[in-house]
Amino acid sequence: MLTQTRRHSYICSLLGIRDIVVAVNKIDLVGFSQDTFDRIVGDYVTFASELGFRSIVPVPISARFGDNVTARSGNLPWYKGPTLIEHLEQVDVAQDLGSKPFRFPVQWVNRPNLDFRGFAGTIAAGRVAPGDQVVVAASGKASRIARIVTADGDLDAAEAGQAVTLTLEDEVDVARGDILVRPAERPPVADQFAGHLLWMDEEAMLPGRGYLMRIGNIWTPCSITSIRHRVDVNTLEEHAARRLSLNEIGFCNFSAGQPIPLDAYEENRATGAFILVDRFTNRTAGAGMVAFPLRRASNIHHEHFTVDKAARAALVGNRPMVLWFTGLSGSGKSTIANIVEQALHKAGRATYSLDGDNVRHGLCRDLGFTAADRVENIRRVGEVAKLFVDAGMIVLCSFISPFQAERRMVRDLLGPGEFTEVFVDTPIEACIARDPKGLYAKAQAGQIQNFTGISSPYEPPEHPELHILTAGRTPEECAAEVLDRLRGAGIAC
Ligand code: ADX
Repeated sequence: MLTQTRRHSYICSLLGIRDIVVAVNKIDLVGFSQDTFDRIVGDYVTFASELGFRSIVPVPISARFGDNVTARSGNLPWYKGPTLIEHLEQVDVAQDLGSKPFRFPVQWVNRPNLDFRGFAGTIAAGRVAPGDQVVVAASGKASRIARIVTADGDLDAAEAGQAVTLTLEDEVDVARGDILVRPAERPPVADQFAGHLLWMDEEAMLPGRGYLMRIGNIWTPCSITSIRHRVDVNTLEEHAARRLSLNEIGFCNFSAGQPIPLDAYEENRATGAFILVDRFTNRTAGAGMVAFPLRRASNIHHEHFTVDKAARAALVGNRPMVLWFTGLSGSGKSTIANIVEQALHKAGRATYSLDGDNVRHGLCRDLGFTAADRVENIRRVGEVAKLFVDAGMIVLCSFISPFQAERRMVRDLLGPGEFTEVFVDTPIEACIARDPKGLYAKAQAGQIQNFTGISSPYEPPEHPELHILTAGRTPEECAAEVLDRLRGAGIAC
């Protein structure tokens, strides 16, 4: 039995498939041997015993010669079961979605004029009829179904699988992505949940990195806050993991950008499934299945303080913002940031500097330089920078921050105009020649692993607010460019 068979079986099990056909192919290559067939089937049944399958039907076949595919084979007189096609034609795979709790994910709000407002979509589960009470899953706003509209006229009832437009008796707030449900069958609503994730991208999944999640008709930012365990598909053992690579499966905690109605995948395959999309490539990077909501977030609210960012900033006469310096080690980020901060300070601006070499002694002392640790490093620094901006300060951050995804994440944490990305662009040859801390020499000698530019990638910014080419210029000249930019943005310095 190959790893691929184990992986696919595990995925089938996660997907809720309960009836399995084990088609043992190429049986001609082992002389149609019953022993070999029995051994493979025995191994499979043992492996699959934990996967919750209802039926496992083994069929020995030769796809190449057609044995037992459509016609029974004389080469396998010992086999008494059905051919593959016979079995597929009679196996019962019907699922009764109509009897499940009603779920209507709104795909489109149709409002051609003031007299009509309908919600178009496909009924994911259950049944509905005019007069039925419904609520919006996330907000709890209630109304009754007025009409079920279709191109061929109104219906008296509709059920799972039908594409319809529903109108309500009241003007309640319903938007694309909302789910209409019955009041007594509201799913839990949470912005954090646990679930299985099958990773399908060449680039590994890293906890803390921002992805886009599509669940039903909702698109929302999403990150994995932790991997509870990775599943070894060969043994079904659960292991600790810090990342998920291509084809790996993990049980993870997720954090979404907004509260979402969460059906367990086991309860409803249509509304409990989601995908994760890479924000830069738009590739579908992972497929997920909701297990259960995490209550941790539901009892924590945002507390509003009267003295707010604007008040704090006004007191110190600041326009709070982040200046984010990114570039290779030794590119001059900290040196330039230092000169810029001095000028700001002299001009009476309230500033604070966050620097890789410094925060790694305290806040991030538990982190190294693997991709996963760098993601977490920048995530923490981004949150801290956000707090300082909230305190009314100009924050100068100097981090290699080699990945676009995390620089983007920090940008998204802040308000419009509050994030200025400064690409300190020094060719690696110049960094190697300077090597102020002797680290490039060590990295080239193999004494430091994962060194940016040598054995770990640097993704240059595509659209930085400022692109500083340092070659042939002094740090003062480079800093002057940053200060000019700040003055242009109305910051006196
Ligand atoms: S980041 O990649 O996570 O943004 P950060 O800016 O905090 O890195 O730290 C970079 C500093 O750590 C470098 O300037 C260098 O002094 C030191 N360092 C030690 N090991 C490495 C490494 N493997 N790669 C890059 N920098 C390293």
